[in-house]
Amino acid sequence: MKKRTVLVTGGAGYIGSHTVLALQDRGWSVAVLDDLSSGHRSAVADGAAFYVGDISDSRLVLDILDRHKISAVVHFAGSLSVPESIEAPLKYYSNNTSKSRDLLAATLEGGVGTFIFSSTAATYGIPADSLVSERSIQQPINPYGWSKLMTERMLIDTAAVNPLTYGILRYFNVAGADPNGRIGQSTVGATHLIKVAVEAALGKRGHVKIFGADFPTVDGTGIRDYIHVSDLATAHVLALEHLIVSPGSPLILNCGYGHGYSVNEVLDTVDQVAGTKLSRVIAPRRPGDPPSLISDSSLLRSKLPWKPLYADLELIVSHALEWERSLTDRLS
Ligand code: UFG
Repeated sequence: MKKRTVLVTGGAGYIGSHTVLALQDRGWSVAVLDDLSSGHRSAVADGAAFYVGDISDSRLVLDILDRHKISAVVHFAGSLSVPESIEAPLKYYSNNTSKSRDLLAATLEGGVGTFIFSSTAATYGIPADSLVSERSIQQPINPYGWSKLMTERMLIDTAAVNPLTYGILRYFNVAGADPNGRIGQSTVGATHLIKVAVEAALGKRGHVKIFGADFPTVDGTGIRDYIHVSDLATAHVLALEHLIVSPGSPLILNCGYGHGYSVNEVLDTVDQVAGTKLSRVIAPRRPGDPPSLISDSSLLRSKLPWKPLYADLELIVSHALEWERSLTDRLS
């Protein structure tokens, strides 16, 4: 396989920056396009060409595609908080839907035929099945999920009539940090549970709120399938290589481990790994939160030679904690 350059949008963000490293580790060259609205310049790996700009700026995108002879686009740039999407739906339909449309149009115009899209388990809404497969009904319950689902549809419809192969990866709950400590999640004002909990473990927050203890789950708290960001990054590289080798076979894959943990179990693990006793405050359910989301990951494992290396909640938490400590050290 001829490894040319890949354009990674959102490559200065959390999952994007880990995927840039994974691509480089497998011998790919990378160009990053990021508007730095939430990403960080320092998260972009050395050796990657870096452009600050908007994915809907077609002229800029076409220029990058041409200048670097780009062979594939891996599209992460977007907004990713469920609660924020409820407060600001148009921001989500702009950043995740309409700007993706512009990026896709420029990708086609630039003659690039491989596109990987970062989608989400939030497209399933409240699943009827305890294990969610790619065939489960997609009925989002928040604007975030809808904004991503519309882009999925756009890709499928566009690929039907254009020389385009797509990969749609639906992430479950992404957490952890690069095991070698090179990067991690640096989001300011994060809302994601493991990030919030490790911040609290290091005294950056006074307590952790548990959003709902009355769900129909083992202990009443929400259940999610947490996947290590580096295993997810590897899934992208393998999906890319599959699409390049088999352009006629698009991929739609759930990305999770197939194991769910409740909020209380996550907090217990943080306590155990960090040696803390977090202050937990029961709060009302958060609008738009399903009780349980666990991936059926059999398709990911059968379609790609994906062998997760960090499918262990303690490991995920300890990498997240190490990264959080290093952030503290850098600021002090
Ligand atoms: N939670 C708390 N307290 C917090 C933060 C979260 O109790 O301070 C709970 C939530 O209510 C939920 C669970 O922890 O039950 C996980 O919440 P996150 O905010 O960490 O993540 P979400 O499940 O809301 O959303 C994430 C991603 C989405 C993705 C989804 C798929 O942001 O992109 O996982 O499961 F679609």
